[in-house]
Amino acid sequence: MGPSALCPGTFDPITNGHLDIVRRASRCFEEVVVAVLENPGKAPLFSTEERVAMLKEATSDLDGVEIASFSGLLVDYAASRGIKVIVKGLRAVTDFDYELQMAQMNRTLNGGVETFFVPTSPQWSYLSSSLIKEIMRFGGDVSEFVPSFVRQRLSEKLSAGRE
Ligand code: PNS
Repeated sequence: MGPSALCPGTFDPITNGHLDIVRRASRCFEEVVVAVLENPGKAPLFSTEERVAMLKEATSDLDGVEIASFSGLLVDYAASRGIKVIVKGLRAVTDFDYELQMAQMNRTLNGGVETFFVPTSPQWSYLSSSLIKEIMRFGGDVSEFVPSFVRQRLSEKLSAGRE
């Protein structure tokens, strides 16, 4: 398989579902660049720097994984890094419509970039960063779904927001 792949996302914050995809991609590619979208329009809870730092900590045991951030079009970022494969996780059919649309559009924008879909491991198929944030806001337990240090950062961030 090719030497490099790109795993893009918002990662606000990283979950065990994301980590599963990055870990599995790292077994198939020599280098995996996890790219955090700088998306102020989406008003993420964590800054780009905070999301990058959490990803670095969560993937520190994986060889060949680099954490980066980007703005603008994903295919332009891929081209600037000389990467031809985008890896995305698919949780359920509900993801499929949107992911297929993006993959087709990205391929139209740059025919040299392919999207590979990886089926999410079943135990994470219902997991999302949005649900994690909602559960935390209402005092629920997310320890099964994110690394413990991420749960800690969420707790600090949400309590700071209430001050
Ligand atoms: O984790 P997410 O929010 O599902 O990730 C979505 C992401 C970052 C992959 C997507 O929004 C993206 O690629 N944004 C960059 C802008 C872009 O290229 N848009 C055109 C997509 S066809």
